[in-house]
Amino acid sequence: MAGWHRIAALPSLLPLGLFGLLLLLLSSGWSNGKPLGKCLGDKSCPPSRPPVVLIPGDLGNQLEAKLDKPSVVHYICYKKTDSFFTLWLNLELLVPVAIDCWIDNIRLIYNRTTHNTSSPPGVDVRVPGFGKTYPLEYLDPSKRSVGMYFFTIVQSLVDWGYTRDQDIRGAPYDWRKAPNENKDYFQRLQDMIQEMAEKAGEPVVLIAHSMGNAYTLYFLNQQPQAWKDRYIKAFIAIGPPWAGVAKTLRVVISGDNDHIPVISPLKMRSQQRSAVSTTWLFPYVHSWPKDQVLVQTPTTNYTVLDYQRLFSDLGFEDGWMMRQDTEPLVFDLTPPGVAVHCLYGTGTKTPESFLYSDKFPDVEPTVTYGEGDGTVNLQSAIQCGQWAGKQKQPVTLKELPGSEHVNMLLNATTVAYIKSVLFSP
Ligand SMILES: *[C@@H]1O[C@H](CO)[C@@H](O)[C@H](O)[C@H]1NC(C)=O
Ligand SMILES: *[C@@H]1O[C@H](CO)[C@@H](O)[C@H](O)[C@H]1NC(C)=O
Ligand SMILES: *[C@@H]1O[C@H](CO)[C@@H](O)[C@H](O)[C@H]1NC(C)=O
Ligand SMILES: *[C@@H]1O[C@H](CO)[C@@H](O)[C@H](O)[C@H]1NC(C)=O
Repeated sequence: MAGWHRIAALPSLLPLGLFGLLLLLLSSGWSNGKPLGKCLGDKSCPPSRPPVVLIPGDLGNQLEAKLDKPSVVHYICYKKTDSFFTLWLNLELLVPVAIDCWIDNIRLIYNRTTHNTSSPPGVDVRVPGFGKTYPLEYLDPSKRSVGMYFFTIVQSLVDWGYTRDQDIRGAPYDWRKAPNENKDYFQRLQDMIQEMAEKAGEPVVLIAHSMGNAYTLYFLNQQPQAWKDRYIKAFIAIGPPWAGVAKTLRVVISGDNDHIPVISPLKMRSQQRSAVSTTWLFPYVHSWPKDQVLVQTPTTNYTVLDYQRLFSDLGFEDGWMMRQDTEPLVFDLTPPGVAVHCLYGTGTKTPESFLYSDKFPDVEPTVTYGEGDGTVNLQSAIQCGQWAGKQKQPVTLKELPGSEHVNMLLNATTVAYIKSVLFSP
């Protein structure tokens, strides 16, 4: 999850433009069947520079919306807009009263028959800039430094000779949803990787952050081994929540404003509950002790085995259905079948369990902290260790002591590590 305490914003519109459309049209069907790595042993080849694809985390890329709504929740809310505007990240929309309009636009509605979600009537949400880096370099199009996300990494690559939107590209997606509702995304991701690899004559390095790692694992698990051997050089997993994140329990129970004081957590809760990706990231039973109390109220203790009861006690039955829809997606933690570098932060106090008063669930909990990067619990991040020996490609774990979940993307140690992977033979 991108922390959204790092924010400030002004809206501005960034139409894709004809050039972007042309790039997309040109990007299909470059495969020529030749093996990649054609320069091996040829001294006249230019220095190797593997193409890079960036996969962001929860809240980690821009979203845009266009409105033509039958009704609004407050008279100040726009009912209709002529064009798409920035829905995320746009701090102007996150202030009192305006936030009610925002919540009613960004929330999803779950359909129990189809098990999929959709925007409210008259709200059209899109993910801008697939294949480009801008929607994840800065979450906020006005590029305020507080909304900085992948910028440091992208700029470093550019300094090493890369070109934005050519050999380093972004793969943004609708992070409100889990992979089961993002099928088109994975097709576009596959096409983009193939195109970049064929053009460069060498396989691609994937760099993901946070939930983007679970997305990437899901994607790689769907690909035949021959495809991965041909097209993927390595997968750099930064701050990966392989087995979920305890903090999501609080988000669903009582909401989380991530320390933005003007926003009430309870207000955020209605939007946060509607995002399927949040329940997808609940802690997984294979990695949490089955007797560890994650949520305690005066009457009930909830462990990783009690989610059905928890959702029921919250009166949020859809949540249990969302969990069942999404839990199998990467439950088995099937090895990705590519070289993995797992970078995880330690030394930042990380929410581990939540104690509620008798006002549960409409109250802030007392939080108990454990080891991790401030968001991802350590025992979740290091689950990649179990792949060592289960796949023929190497699995490397790298601890980043003192690195916080989002700050680790800005950290010189992370950047140096990425450089060593990119320019290793
Ligand atoms: C859910 O989807 C089904 C099938 O598309 C549809 O018939 C039904 O009206 C939807 N339910 C709601 C509440 O929108
Ligand atoms: C939801 O599922 C129904 C039936 O499977 C499908 O027709 C519809 O397009 C889906 N809606 C979304 C938003 O994916
Ligand atoms: C919940 O667990 C705590 C210890 O973790 C225990 O002290 C308490 O009595 C339990 N409460 C209930 C209702 O079982
Ligand atoms: C960057 O990461 C290193 C290694 O984990 C850590 O020692 C350092 O404190 C981090 N710096 C910042 C500013 O987070």
